[in-house]
Amino acid sequence: DSPLLVDRFGRVATDLRVSLTDRCNLRCTYCMPAEGLDWMPRADRLTDDEVVRLVRIAVERLGVTNVRFTGGEPTLRRGVEGIIAATAALAPRPRISMTTNAIGLAARAPALAAAGLDRINVSLDTLRPERFAELTRRDRLADVLDGLAAARDAGLTPVKVNAVLVRGRNDDEAAPLLRYCLDHGYHLRFIEQMPLDAQHGWDRAEMITAAEILTALGREFELTPSPRPRGAAPAERWLVDGGPGEVGVIASVTRPFCGDCDRTRLTADGQLRSCLFSQTETDLRAPLRAGLPDEEVARRWRATMWAKLAGHEINEAGFAQPIRPMSAIGG
Ligand code: GTP
Ligand code: 5AD
Ligand code: SF4
Repeated sequence: DSPLLVDRFGRVATDLRVSLTDRCNLRCTYCMPAEGLDWMPRADRLTDDEVVRLVRIAVERLGVTNVRFTGGEPTLRRGVEGIIAATAALAPRPRISMTTNAIGLAARAPALAAAGLDRINVSLDTLRPERFAELTRRDRLADVLDGLAAARDAGLTPVKVNAVLVRGRNDDEAAPLLRYCLDHGYHLRFIEQMPLDAQHGWDRAEMITAAEILTALGREFELTPSPRPRGAAPAERWLVDGGPGEVGVIASVTRPFCGDCDRTRLTADGQLRSCLFSQTETDLRAPLRAGLPDEEVARRWRATMWAKLAGHEINEAGFAQPIRPMSAIGG
């Protein structure tokens, strides 16, 4: 019996993604409705101590080496600096990252770096203020751009930018986004939209595919495959105009990468998911609150990961979206 998070297909989960809240201060149209969602009741949410205990079990007993904090928007969680500091104090110290919309980072990036955050990924789909306000339903582009720069200046590097292109909305911005990121030292990745929106409005025909993105970029840049090994990373990367600049594409739908998956996920209410698209979850909050010992929690975690499916089934007949939307899983 391996102490690690191994599954039937021989994959080993060493990358833990922890959602700290399902709330967000933006309302991206491809993610949630204008009025927001029925947010998780506070009592359901893990406390800071409970989050840290689960992260500790993952790091100390299950071989997790990378911890990413996600949301919703993780910076809305008041205790985030403390949770990061406690994570950074674990041995062996995991690498710590965060996926954020960067609002508020202009002020908070230094404190997050001081707490032990190593790097961040930032969602940014457009560089045009009016479009940003339409796509996110909030007029905050300047805050995001300031937050990005502050993160880079605080050493939260490499700063990665995630862009989702939406047909007819921002799909003419692939090249401008890349130019901006190259100029500012950010690593841009384009993401194929996945069926995870709360409105269940995903439409394969509307999705901008990796092939389309590469064609659009190819008109303005010379792309050659990056020589760096990809490992379990979702992004395939290309050198831009011979390098050193790069661009990535996360083609979850048209070029799935499940065979190399190294992820395990926790929701803000302490539910364990072996896959972004899992139809079932394992409750770790109840055993925690019932006072079960670490090793019993670890045993349930191993059993859940052992049962992980081969991959998502977006491309198969009868695919059904998971009940939890993206904003409550953390991507
Ligand atoms: P790094 O490459 O380590 O920087 O992180 P990441 O790209 O995995 O994380 P990020 O939170 O920035 O996610 C970028 C996009 O990849 C989001 O749309 C995620 O939903 C998607 N993504 C992350 N992990 C997985 C995964 O395991 N499966 C699939 N299908 N998509 C994923
Ligand atoms: N498909 C793909 N990516 C998505 N994101 C949000 N919703 C979706 C979706 N349905 C992106 C966000 C963020 C990252 C965590 O996931 O833009 O950058
Ligand atoms: Fe891993 Fe599931 Fe993502 Fe595939 S869809 S890469 S199995 S988490």
